[in-house]
Amino acid sequence: MKVGIIGAMNEEIAFFKKAMADLEVVQKGLLTFYSGTSYGHDVVITKSGVGKVNGAIAAQMLIDLFDIEALIFTGVAGGVKEELDVEDIVISTSCQQHDIDASPLGFERGTIPMFEGTSDFPADEHLVNIAYQAAIHTMNKESKVLKGKIISGDQFIADKNVVKELGDTFGGICVEMEGAAVAQVAHFNAIPYVIIRSISDKANGEAPVSFETFVERAAQTSSKIVERLLNEL
Ligand code: ADE
Repeated sequence: MKVGIIGAMNEEIAFFKKAMADLEVVQKGLLTFYSGTSYGHDVVITKSGVGKVNGAIAAQMLIDLFDIEALIFTGVAGGVKEELDVEDIVISTSCQQHDIDASPLGFERGTIPMFEGTSDFPADEHLVNIAYQAAIHTMNKESKVLKGKIISGDQFIADKNVVKELGDTFGGICVEMEGAAVAQVAHFNAIPYVIIRSISDKANGEAPVSFETFVERAAQTSSKIVERLLNEL
C-alpha cells in the first residue's frame, strides 16, 4: 500500500524519516517530500507546517502528486479530556474544526456552512483499529491510549476555561491545529485516514511550557506508533 504521512513540525517527521529506506527527496513548491519504503510499504512523508491550511495543502499534494492510498497524520496535541496526561495517546475516530463559526447564519458552531454531509469527518475504521493496537503495544502500561474525536483549529489553546468549553461543546478528547483539515481532504478524495497524537500539554495555562518541554519526546512516541502501524498494515 502507498501511504502518505504528514507531521506539522520537524520534530514530528524527523524520527520516522530516519527509519525509512530508499529515501528520495522531491521538492514541490514550498514542501519537501521524502519518499521511500518502510515495513514493505511505499511511503511519502512531508512536513506540512502548522495550521489547517498547511495541513490541507500537504494532504492534497500527497494525493495528487504521489497517488497515496491512505493518509496518516502523526504529531502532538493538547489534552481536552481530563484523564489525559502528557505522553498519553489519542487515535482519531473522527475530526472536526472547532473554530469554524457561522452561527449568526443559523449554523451550529463547527459546522461548515452550505456543505453537504457531516463536518465531523469519520476516520477509517480499519486504520483506527490497527493504530490503536499499535499504540497499545508501543506504550508502557501506565500510559493511556484512547480512541476518540479530535478537534482542530488555528489556535494554540492555553486556557483551562477555553479548553473546557471546547470539550463541552464538541466532545473532542484532544485539540490540535491540522487534523480536521487533513480529514476533510481525505473525505473529499475518498482516501482512508487516521490521526495519531501524543499529548504534549493539557491546553491550560501551563500549555506553552509543557509543549516546549515535551514536544520532541511526544512526537517521537507518535512516530513509533506509525512505524508499528505500517508493520501491521
Ligand atoms: N498542539 C499541541 N498542543 C496544542 C494546544 N494546546 N492547542 C492546539 N494545538 C496543540
